[in-house]
Amino acid sequence: MEKLVIKGPTPLKGEVTISGAKNAAVAILPATLLIDGVCTIENLPNISDIKISCEILEQLGAKITWNNEHSITIDTTNITTTKAPLDLTSKFRASYYIIGAMLGRKGEIEVGMPGGCKLGARPIDQHIKGFEMLGATVNLEKGTIYAKAKKLKAAPIYMDIVSVGATINVMLASVLAKGTTTIDNAAKEPHIVDVANFLNTMGADIRGAGTDVIKINGVEKLNGGCTYSVVPDQIEAGTFMLAAVATRGDLTLKNCITKHLESITAKIVEVGGNVEDNGDSIRIWCNKRPNNANIKTLPYPGFPTDLQPQMGVVLALANGTSVINESIWESRFQYTEELNKMGAKITAQGKTAFFEGVKKLYGAPVYSSDLRAGAALVIAGTAAEGETEIYNLEHIDRGYENIEEKFRKIGAKIERVKE
Ligand code: EPZ
Repeated sequence: MEKLVIKGPTPLKGEVTISGAKNAAVAILPATLLIDGVCTIENLPNISDIKISCEILEQLGAKITWNNEHSITIDTTNITTTKAPLDLTSKFRASYYIIGAMLGRKGEIEVGMPGGCKLGARPIDQHIKGFEMLGATVNLEKGTIYAKAKKLKAAPIYMDIVSVGATINVMLASVLAKGTTTIDNAAKEPHIVDVANFLNTMGADIRGAGTDVIKINGVEKLNGGCTYSVVPDQIEAGTFMLAAVATRGDLTLKNCITKHLESITAKIVEVGGNVEDNGDSIRIWCNKRPNNANIKTLPYPGFPTDLQPQMGVVLALANGTSVINESIWESRFQYTEELNKMGAKITAQGKTAFFEGVKKLYGAPVYSSDLRAGAALVIAGTAAEGETEIYNLEHIDRGYENIEEKFRKIGAKIERVKE
């Protein structure tokens, strides 16, 4: 078993280069199944979710060559099976994108129910509704999803809930469907736009990604042969921005799109931090105890749920009482119990948590319950006095490239230790 050991407190200072976005990359890789040819994907984050995505594609028949740790060339000319490996697909959430892509490519797929972070109920009814509207039949039996379509046909699809996964999945399934599909009440996250940009580069005709209404004009075939670079990770950037505030440090983030970070920038200014926006880089610094603030998580462009735990660390240390209302996931406050072990005073009730700010956190052994909770604990350990041990690193490794290396470069005293 591995753990991270952090000795704090350290104000984080220096430069961080942001990696490619996990939540875009895990959709772009299955999207290559729609192509009968070869393409190169660059700026991939070097994380375990990407490695598992590649293994799934290989087991379906794709040939993958690693050009370096951030770039692969995928040849999807020969897709040899419509059964995705159940053991791998159940390891992470984004395996559900295999359904949309394979319905488009082969009209058939058998795949395990997706896994991923345990954040409460994670239904996929909107995905299924979308596939059925496009003419597919979808059955769920003993944890396996069977989806089939003789021929997909465009349809108007209204999403009852703003869903990142369902928006992307329906987009994937409709790229090759005859006619014009509309997705109303679509999600608008930067990774939706990135997946649409990738598909359009390959010859798809998708319009309106990044707005509430996406129109997909079905095309007969996509081209092979493109090189595409994944968008910078909004959530990794936000994680380091909030780490700068929580540790009262001074960080400059390179390779980020600051437009994607506006909701985070606004909250950082509200709590008394400083922001210098340079377009493709951003500097965040804070030299005092943060002020209190209230947060409500919302779909993009609102404050992202995937930065709620990291913001929770800032508010745990703030001057005054703060409230976070989590509107996306039922169970995203598990990290608050761990912060309380470190001296925080947080009371979580359902989807609301009350933070009575404390002056200091103190090192303690803590457990990461999910990916972003793990990142929050790394920030807390760096800000806290004494030694923090963080367990359950497999969650963090799913979504953060080399987290200890990146934190060490900006001054954190952090080691990965085998027990
Ligand atoms: C994506 O999950 C992200 N994962 C999550 O990031 C992120 O928290 C979430 O979007 C919200 O931004 C990936 O992109 C791989 P949703 P997804 O469908 O697509 C409900 C991380 O830490 N819903 O937008 O699964 C659902 O229960 C992860 O990187 C339905 O009711 O989220 C939730 O309340 C964690 N029916 C809300 O919609 C459906 O069919 C939003 O979920 C689908 C979703």
